[in-house]
Amino acid sequence: MKVEGDFTITDRAGNTYDLGGREIVGLCRCGLSNNKPFCDGAHNGKFTHEAKAFALPPKKAQ
Ligand code: FES
Repeated sequence: MKVEGDFTITDRAGNTYDLGGREIVGLCRCGLSNNKPFCDGAHNGKFTHEAKAFALPPKKAQ
């Protein structure tokens, strides 16, 4: 999964990853990366998916 733009990524404790100035990163979806949550290419030849972009339903009002 590619993430691009002005964003931050935090771990479950709320700590922010230092992205080293990157404005685009790949996130691992296959679970095979040794650099989770980032993709390190370990998926090559071992993971396929057919996910296509779609619209989420509108955000619920609180
Ligand atoms: S998606 Fe898991 S290593 Fe690339």
